[in-house]
Amino acid sequence: MRVVSGIQPTGNLHLGNYLGAIRNWVRMQDSMGDGNQCLFFLADLHAISMPHDPAELKRATLEMAAALVACGIDAQKSVLFNQAQVPHHAELQWLLNGTARMGWLNRMTQFKDKSGKNREGASAALFTYPVLQAADVLLYQTTHVPVGEDQKQHLELARDIAQKFNNDFASDDAPVFTLPEPISPPQAARIMSLRDGSKKMSKSDPSEMSRIELVDDADTVMKKIKKAKTDPEPLPSEAEGLADRPEALNLVTIYAAVADTPIEGVLREFGGEGFGKFKPALGELLVETLRPISTRFNELLADREALDAILARGAAQARDLGRPTLDAAYGALGFVR
Ligand code: TYM
Repeated sequence: MRVVSGIQPTGNLHLGNYLGAIRNWVRMQDSMGDGNQCLFFLADLHAISMPHDPAELKRATLEMAAALVACGIDAQKSVLFNQAQVPHHAELQWLLNGTARMGWLNRMTQFKDKSGKNREGASAALFTYPVLQAADVLLYQTTHVPVGEDQKQHLELARDIAQKFNNDFASDDAPVFTLPEPISPPQAARIMSLRDGSKKMSKSDPSEMSRIELVDDADTVMKKIKKAKTDPEPLPSEAEGLADRPEALNLVTIYAAVADTPIEGVLREFGGEGFGKFKPALGELLVETLRPISTRFNELLADREALDAILARGAAQARDLGRPTLDAAYGALGFVR
């Protein structure tokens, strides 16, 4: 198994990233046998697809590196790096731009969401960034990509690009790229906004009340959960009872994911209770879970040298691991080098 996944370093890590992705990264890392490997990276090159502030990018990159380590990514067990120190990603993207089709990119829902009504004014990087994402995983002969539901379409694109490239430029017995499989954790594949149960919890939501950040202190967590949007009904005893109640479903999903129990288990305990009882229980559970993470995060952030060393070492490993595939892609396309 070769596991690869990335996260954009835009602002602080939130509960959606943690429950939908990072916690699963840590579990995969800790259950890898001999010969298997995990690579986790900060997708900093993606930042220029949207208007961005360079000083903020630098700060967010270091913060995200510290946050990943605080959540349990161990640079001795996994390869942890940022894209900008591994130019192979951008190089391979250019090579794959020859294979990716305009029609495929036109179908990407994230481009539509992020460009909104201003498609003409969106950056070319926003349109082609799914190809960079394909390069991110294809560069390493990745077999498995742990991601939340929202990234599955990008993974399918990576598979389409790999398949077409192999068909067009490689022989059947010596494909250049491995087709990667997405894997989502069964629970918490989709954590929604605390203000609107139909929108995913996101770093780009202008309302801070919509998300729990991993560095929120206890009072902030309790306040955000208390103010989370709900409906007046008590919680049902069966999961079906949550079908048309997106906000209630979201809070129960969060509880189930954090407590690592099925939704049915949470409803067995809280079915019939109102939010007046459920919300404080959820808030306390979150505070206890986040406390050790935010303590470690603050310690790490104070040691810039150690963070730089972790990223430099990871990048050197990633460059070595990616080199053979990049060379094979150049060779297959007929470049003289
Ligand atoms: P990003 O930075 O938006 O999110 C990182 C990871 O967190 C998951 N996630 C969520 N899961 C559940 N509920 C949510 N509300 C939620 N919000 C985010 C995402 O699914 C993702 O797994 N383009 C990617 C980063 C990327 C990448 C890659 C991922 C770049 N290259 C290669 C995998 C492989 C992104 O913007 O994720």
